[in-house]
Amino acid sequence: MSNLISALEWRYATKKFDSNHPASDADIESLKKATNLSASSFGLQPYRIVVVTDPAVKQQLRAAAFDQDQVTSASHIFVFAAKEEVSPEYVNAFMRLTADTRGVPFEALKGYADYINGSLAGKDTAAILDWTRRQSYIALGTLLAAAGELKLDACPMEGFDPAQFDEILGLPQQGLRSVVIAAVGHRSEADDTQHHAKVRFPVEEMFI
Ligand SMILES: Cc1cc2nc3c(=O)[nH]c(=O)nc-3n(C[C@H](O)[C@H](O)[C@H](O)COP(=O)(O)O)c2cc1C
Repeated sequence: MSNLISALEWRYATKKFDSNHPASDADIESLKKATNLSASSFGLQPYRIVVVTDPAVKQQLRAAAFDQDQVTSASHIFVFAAKEEVSPEYVNAFMRLTADTRGVPFEALKGYADYINGSLAGKDTAAILDWTRRQSYIALGTLLAAAGELKLDACPMEGFDPAQFDEILGLPQQGLRSVVIAAVGHRSEADDTQHHAKVRFPVEEMFI
């Protein structure tokens, strides 16, 4: 626990990354694994995460992100993209995975699948996207904590034009919409922000 708290104290929203010090493949694999372990409603993980490393694509994304330096100086850009639709077929695929993983008959999960499909059927497209977007943020939180633990730097970012990101990454063709991003890499020594004290309301005030 105390390790996690020191990791959370160590991490900060990095403004400038050292482009000569990319995150290692092994650390990125650990970060993906940790993020994939994030909790989600019903366990459906109704989002996908695009990891961008191509410098030319990052340059395009930066132009659509108010020219923020992190988008090109970070070695990896994680783009959290929410599913526009959570179809009965998708729920079925999740049930198939659950059955295979837990060694239970697929048919035994039918009641649960019907319950989920019933609850989703009552939502219109905007409500579904609102829900899948919120799930994406939980994964973002997991990624930020895990990055700190791995001594990887990260910057969560909403400062970008989602419509442009969608177009650059071809997300709508995959039924996805960009929601939030995390730039990941290692901090630049020249980033003064790392020396700023953390500002948080006191715990006594936060918890009621
Ligand atoms: C959802 C979200 C969006 C953010 N968007 C940006 C952004 O576009 N650019 C940026 O430099 N920082 C962004 N931040 C970073 C916050 O400003 C930062 O997390 C906050 O000031 C707390 O500081 P700390 O993370 O360094 O502790 C964002 C943070 C979150 C959680």
